[in-house]
Amino acid sequence: MVFYYKQGKVPEFRHTFDSRDAVMKEELFGEESFDGIYSLLYHIGEPTRVRDINREEKREFDPSDDNSTKHRHLVTSKLGRKGSFINGRQYLFWNSRIRIGISKPAEKMTSYLRNALVEELLFFHKGKGRLLSTFGSIDLYDGDYVYIPKGTTFILEYSGDAEILFMETYDRIDLPGRYLNRYGQLREGTPYYTRDFRLPVLYSKTQPNVSDKVYVDYDTYYMVEERDTPVFDLVGWDGYLFPYAINIEKMAPIVGKLHQPPPVHENFSGKSFMVGTFLPRPFDFHSRSIPISYYHNNIDTDEFLFYSSGNFMSRKGIESGSITLHVRGIIHGPQPGAVEAIIGAKSTDEKAVMIEAYEPLKLTKTALGIEDKDYMKSWYK
Ligand SMILES: [Fe+2]
Repeated sequence: MVFYYKQGKVPEFRHTFDSRDAVMKEELFGEESFDGIYSLLYHIGEPTRVRDINREEKREFDPSDDNSTKHRHLVTSKLGRKGSFINGRQYLFWNSRIRIGISKPAEKMTSYLRNALVEELLFFHKGKGRLLSTFGSIDLYDGDYVYIPKGTTFILEYSGDAEILFMETYDRIDLPGRYLNRYGQLREGTPYYTRDFRLPVLYSKTQPNVSDKVYVDYDTYYMVEERDTPVFDLVGWDGYLFPYAINIEKMAPIVGKLHQPPPVHENFSGKSFMVGTFLPRPFDFHSRSIPISYYHNNIDTDEFLFYSSGNFMSRKGIESGSITLHVRGIIHGPQPGAVEAIIGAKSTDEKAVMIEAYEPLKLTKTALGIEDKDYMKSWYK
């Protein structure tokens, strides 16, 4: 995040103690070793105190050997409820930098999770919940994006109807650099403002005491720490690196006289991706404007879209929870008749999440199981 934030009690000077009676255990929580964005955390106990550690295989990620490249449509309403947010994650797409999937948990998380290698972005498509982490608690609602920095120890609570889109990436998840002014503040004219971000609140209710196990996720396996002291034991922390949430209702879509391209809807960016949100908005106001996308040949990206709710104007056969993947190398755009049908329309109520992946995305076995196999031919009518 691009601003300083503090919770609880911290020493007057970093790397010092205020009183010999209560020396707090200071932890540097920072990316890029000691050079990147960081926070300083003050524990009651020693965060290094691990009674035992054991390896467990991770079975959730199931890459397929499908090697054809074409436009895809997945129907995620066909995915059943499964496991917890740890063992029930249903991966759908992947490349060497990112993985995307859906979690429809059937069980509570009864252990802590810590991603050793990836940053994580969640989108609460349905349901509500709470992110409990070392940093404190954030209440969550449908329409929330949730950012969880690499290395964060957390438990996700969720309602029984929760459906969560998740993206994991080895690259830092940032706000787009062009949204920041030379002081690091979000500029005027961007789709959101600093006050729209909801940050962790540190208070005693954040200590769930549900387990003494921390699953440290290394992509293909877990190292499972067994602890005998509280995992969430901070008395305070401060810095620039912490989880946050923002609801899409707080975002202000940018509209224009002519059709606006996806970059105006960008919300998060990284070296290997951008994430944007299509939101309810009035259409373009030129008297002869075509309100939907022109055909496009997205030469350098694979284009992932998760359709959350509303009327998806340029796509037939798409429902809430659908995912399309439009690949580089094969032109895509409105389906036959869509342009003629939309002329004169004044607004859209669509809500959709877009992820542009700069490396080609491949499918998992789970994705192949819910694929609408006729989608590639939906332009040939
Ligand atoms: Fe597209």
